[in-house]
Amino acid sequence: MKMKLDKKYLKKRPDGNSFLLYKRLIKYTLPYWLSLTIAIVANILYSTVDASFAYMLKPLLDEGFTHKNPTFLEAIPFIIVGLFVLRAIFNLTGNYSMALVGRSVVQVLRVQLVQRILRLPCSFYDRTSSGYLLSLIVYNSSQVADASTNALTDFFQALFLVLGFLVVMLSISWRLSLIFLVTVPIIALLLSVSSRRLRRLNRKTQDTVGGITSVAEEVIDGYKVVRTFGGEAYELNKFIAVNKKNVFNELKVVITKALSTSSVQLMGVTVLAVMVWLATHNHSSTALTAGGFTAVIAAMMGLLKPMKALTTINATIQRGLAGAESVFHVLDEPEEVNTGTYQTPRVKGAISYKNVNFSYPRSNVQVLHDVNIEIKPGQRVALVGRSGSGKTTLAGLLPRFYDLTAGDITIDGVSIRDYEITNLRSHCALVSQQVTLFDDTIAHNIAYGRLGEQVTTEDIIRAAEAAHAMEFIKDLPQGLDTLVGENGVLLSGGQRQRLAIARAILKDAPILILDEATSALDTESERFIQEALEYVMEGRTTLVIAHRLSTIEKADHIIVLQDGRVLEMGDHATLIAHNGQYAKLHRLQFQAGGA
Ligand SMILES: Nc1ncnc2c1ncn2[C@@H]1O[C@H](COP(=O)(O)OP(=O)(O)OP(=O)(O)O)[C@@H](O)[C@H]1O
Ligand SMILES: [Mg+2]
Repeated sequence: MKMKLDKKYLKKRPDGNSFLLYKRLIKYTLPYWLSLTIAIVANILYSTVDASFAYMLKPLLDEGFTHKNPTFLEAIPFIIVGLFVLRAIFNLTGNYSMALVGRSVVQVLRVQLVQRILRLPCSFYDRTSSGYLLSLIVYNSSQVADASTNALTDFFQALFLVLGFLVVMLSISWRLSLIFLVTVPIIALLLSVSSRRLRRLNRKTQDTVGGITSVAEEVIDGYKVVRTFGGEAYELNKFIAVNKKNVFNELKVVITKALSTSSVQLMGVTVLAVMVWLATHNHSSTALTAGGFTAVIAAMMGLLKPMKALTTINATIQRGLAGAESVFHVLDEPEEVNTGTYQTPRVKGAISYKNVNFSYPRSNVQVLHDVNIEIKPGQRVALVGRSGSGKTTLAGLLPRFYDLTAGDITIDGVSIRDYEITNLRSHCALVSQQVTLFDDTIAHNIAYGRLGEQVTTEDIIRAAEAAHAMEFIKDLPQGLDTLVGENGVLLSGGQRQRLAIARAILKDAPILILDEATSALDTESERFIQEALEYVMEGRTTLVIAHRLSTIEKADHIIVLQDGRVLEMGDHATLIAHNGQYAKLHRLQFQAGGA
């Protein structure tokens, strides 16, 4: 698991144009156009009810109180209740339909993110922290939903409230209302200034959330190391620091929002004051009836809330856009290169490395230099060498975890670049240095990725037996259906290795890549694992990064790597007779304490 939050990577994001971003975001809502339309219409109707209620004040006061019209007085209670029932229905419909769109958009974004993450090259994982990706999937996506729904709901509701109240005002006294309209461009200016700042702040906030997840993840995943090495204070301080940064940014957001809201409100109130002054100073052009004046003031007051809403919508949208920006950035990451088209049901397993040179992406250190290896089908090749000499790297090139810098690797004479990538990988089984288990049952872990296909319980049991895993599985309370815990925490190292071997046996691929774990096991587990390994290597072309003497001695070729170069090559007897680096390694590693 990568712990670092790659700041360089985050900073490199281009400053996307708000409009283009929002357009792209809105595209996600289009499949739900029906719900969207219902929501918008419901919100418009909701606003109309509110506006007409303000308008009602004029006849209520003029007809009801001044002229005492009896039929109108009779109808008033019904009109009021009727309007509010309608209002409730429109509110419910509007909110529900919009939530439907919003939650669907989050779901689609989350699925797309995971879909993309599943297809990104290994180098992407090397430079991106898993905490950051988690925060994108969990946090940013929902922010995006807020932008695409709450903001839209509020927008239409507020916009039509504003329009409705304006109509009320204009129809009663257009002269007074004009004063109000003068303020609109000033408000627009205020909004555009605050929105730019908000978006920048929100992006920072979201990055700090990524930082929080990263550190929390580190603490949770590494709890044993943290405790034994007394890292509590260090981790806590780091966590406090990222949290402080987050709070600091959130507060800046609040201040910016509050400032923009209050200034808009202040404008509104000033206009209100001017209108009250005009209406009460009996200029013939602005004189009103009592009802008319009350309705205009009610409409003005009514305007304040949707106007405030319009300003906060901007904040929500900016928050969503900042979230969308990082989400789209990952969605736009190029997938693993997969231009090969060659497919075959099963390869024979002849492997050839030709002048292979390799450096990791974004690193200028060359890890492998002119490596040449020829392996015939079914042969076993052991890679030995000091830690860091490039063994894991060399083996990982075969299933194209990384692409070569120069040279070529072929399987059955076909370049691995020409294979369709899933087909290529279907020919390789991998047992890696660190066993990865999934939070699932033992059976599902063994049959990983192939369950429900051709694999039956009998197949799983057969593989588990061959891997000597049945010995411990049958003692477990639920046998094959026992849950192994996140990353198999409930199992011992040796048990995990045997499950990984069982998984490889079940896959039955013609090529096996085996990165032997270095951890020493007790003699019995060791014997089980050796037998299991012998079984799984039988009849397959095997590339084994070997630490066990037994595995090395039985290999058809031993390749000694040093600083990414092939130093010696040959079988055990030849290399011992040659008395070079292998003989030396052999003496150092194996004669002191056995395997
Ligand atoms: N993802 C990576 N990005 C950049 N450099 C890497 C990466 N993985 C490994 N390296 C570098 O490549 C070199 C070879 O590493 P590799 O893991 O292949 O060694 P190894 O022979 O398998 O060692 P060990 O026996 O300890 O497993 C090392 O110098 C390492 O620092
Ligand atoms: Mg290694």
